[in-house]
Amino acid sequence: MYLTRDEEKLLEEEGSDVCMRLLITIGKVFNAEKMIKVKSVHISGISYQNIGDVGLEWIEELSKKAKFRVKATVNPSGMDIERWREMGISYEFYEKQMRILKALEKMGAKLEMSCTPYYFERVGFGDNVAWAESNAVIYANSVMGIRTNRESGITAIASAVTGLTPFYGLHIDENRVADLRIKVDIKRNGDAAIAGCLIGKIECNIPYIISKELRESELKAMGAAMAATGGKAMFHVENQTPEWDFYDIPREVVDLNDDIKSMREDVSPTEKPDLIAIGCPHCYVGEILKIAEFAKKGFKIPVWVFTCRRLLKNKVIAEAKEIIEKNGGRVFCDTCMVVSPATERYEKVMVNSGKALTYLPKLRKVSTFFGSLEECMNVAINGKI
Ligand code: F3S
Repeated sequence: MYLTRDEEKLLEEEGSDVCMRLLITIGKVFNAEKMIKVKSVHISGISYQNIGDVGLEWIEELSKKAKFRVKATVNPSGMDIERWREMGISYEFYEKQMRILKALEKMGAKLEMSCTPYYFERVGFGDNVAWAESNAVIYANSVMGIRTNRESGITAIASAVTGLTPFYGLHIDENRVADLRIKVDIKRNGDAAIAGCLIGKIECNIPYIISKELRESELKAMGAAMAATGGKAMFHVENQTPEWDFYDIPREVVDLNDDIKSMREDVSPTEKPDLIAIGCPHCYVGEILKIAEFAKKGFKIPVWVFTCRRLLKNKVIAEAKEIIEKNGGRVFCDTCMVVSPATERYEKVMVNSGKALTYLPKLRKVSTFFGSLEECMNVAINGKI
């Protein structure tokens, strides 16, 4: 792989050396001819629940020698760093999670603890970034025209330290071409997340979706779901997403319309849930305001809402949070129902997210049901399905 002189120097700098070697190895595996600079880095895999002592020690060790060269934000951690007791988190977990966060901060990370960096970062069409967190990756590539591969927590840290990523995969035009057309009929609220679950499982790299015009929240939910069920990192939506007509359109077509209806039936609640968890990906302004409106009717089943702490600085959102909390809900920051062990206290969780529907049974070992945001709220208000 070709390296500039400056890039070669990183191989001799303590802290950067190990990161540079890691990126070179990855670059060689994918036949990258060179490194490119990245404008932003987003680091996932920072929950102590997921990375344990091995991950904690690796990050702490690196933080003794390395500093980040580009702006780096971080994904949700394993707890709300202010209300961890209320979530039932142990002191030992709290202490180890804080060590991970402090080590990342020491290297220069911004502790946003949000999985929606696309709402906050100053990056746009055509920018090269190194983002981990699958929902952020797919949203960036598909909806914003930003270019990123699906990084791991470790490769994202290596990119933050070096400011570089190998030039391969979705950084290159020819790898952003769709290879299958998929027809979906999004009729009801919540269908986009279900369609995403189904699309993820279809064998193809980049789906070209034929649909009615999707709302921003539907694009977000659908992308997060297909990244979870099938590791997708990009999609196009005909007449909508920014690169939909840049490349050749695939000939083969798959029709998913009947499957959406039947999957929807399969995942609807069959029993009363004991928790309703909203915010995967993290809730943004509109969703929080909508939940606050429903909350005014009072929740009979606990509702946990996950969002990013910076949103609560907004007076309107802070008021919405008060309303939700006065009426039986909780608004937690810095974490989510999937990466926090707190959800394990419950047995049956209802979500409006295809990603949470996929991961909660596997990672938190809870039964999981699906409904649109409105359906989840109605179950919470009525206290029954
Ligand atoms: Fe975000 Fe957690 Fe879902 S990190 S995308 S809310 S699994």
